[in-house]
Amino acid sequence: MSTERLDPDEVAEFAFRVWSYKQGEMVSLLIHLGDRLGLYRSLDGAGPMSAQDLAERTGLQPRWLHEWLRGNAAADLLASDDGERFELTAVGAMVLTREEESLQFAAGAFGPPPDPALVDDLADAFRTGTGLPYDRQGPAGVHQTERMLGPWARLTLVPTIVPALEGVHERLSAGALVADVGCGAAVALTTLAEAYPRSTFHGYELSRLAVERARERVAQAGLTNVEIADRRAEELPDGADYSLVLTFDCLHDMTRPDAAAAAIRRAIADDGTWLVKEIRCADEWAGNRRNPMLAMFLGFSIASCLSSALSEPGGAGLGTIGLPPRVLEQLVRDAGFSRFRMHDFEDPANLYYEIRP
Ligand SMILES: C[S@@+](CC[C@H](N)C(=O)[O-])C[C@H]1O[C@@H](n2cnc3c(N)ncnc32)[C@H](O)[C@@H]1O
Repeated sequence: MSTERLDPDEVAEFAFRVWSYKQGEMVSLLIHLGDRLGLYRSLDGAGPMSAQDLAERTGLQPRWLHEWLRGNAAADLLASDDGERFELTAVGAMVLTREEESLQFAAGAFGPPPDPALVDDLADAFRTGTGLPYDRQGPAGVHQTERMLGPWARLTLVPTIVPALEGVHERLSAGALVADVGCGAAVALTTLAEAYPRSTFHGYELSRLAVERARERVAQAGLTNVEIADRRAEELPDGADYSLVLTFDCLHDMTRPDAAAAAIRRAIADDGTWLVKEIRCADEWAGNRRNPMLAMFLGFSIASCLSSALSEPGGAGLGTIGLPPRVLEQLVRDAGFSRFRMHDFEDPANLYYEIRP
């Protein structure tokens, strides 16, 4: 194809779009370093600060801090009129540092760049078709997932989500048996176990690294009503009579979500509730295309969700946006569940489903 007839402005505009993703990659590194080194924490509530002020607070080198501060100001993450003094606004603090109190906290999702060997294996997956299990991402994968998904579990499960489910708060208060399947680092489990001390909680997890982290978290919280089992969803004990089963952000990562749903049906009490949290997505491309973060979700899919869901022969390979409401409803009906109700708690990334036998 001849390039003579191409509009150079259009090419330049396209190039700008592509370079803006490189800029995103570099700003991601600045955010990761700011989170890791406690820089946003040091700036929070401190008013305008110079690199020297920040160096005195943190013990870090002012020349490096100056570059980092200017990079953040250029990215509109810090306010600065003169490029010498920089402020983290109250709004910025909610997103960049208030991990314990803010639903909008995002900095925890910005990990270090991926290990090149992991990227080699992902490239190979395009040739072989076989993806990588969660553990291939190493402990950083578990850590990042914990911090990315943690705020919603910690801040909304007990005050908002559980009370919206028919009879669940009452049953948990009286004492019930609960399973969190694909429990990851056990943020949901520990949050519920603290709120409902009369209930007993079982976590099931495929990833060895997540099991280790979940057990550590339970021990740190000093909880005696939680146990973490090194068992995958398909291995749930038949007839366990669970009153509540959770699958949070994990069915679409499973190689066999159909087998997991069937195992949950065998393990749940006839009057039990299965609460599914799944990525907010539409059945059709056009609906998903309206999501301004769709490209990021599809990137997560290749890096993690689709990869995990294709990591074994016969994997369903749903991926990040592969489980919209209609597909999920069919999946759970096929597994023998008859009641299906969607809840929208205004979580920008997820929808919730209350499912019953
Ligand atoms: C995105 S993480 C979500 C973790 C946790 N539910 C949360 O909300 O923080 C998905 C988890 O599903 C787990 N997983 C994938 N396939 C599984 C299976 N067949 N059985 C149990 N866990 C599985 C992964 O190991 C990973 O920890």
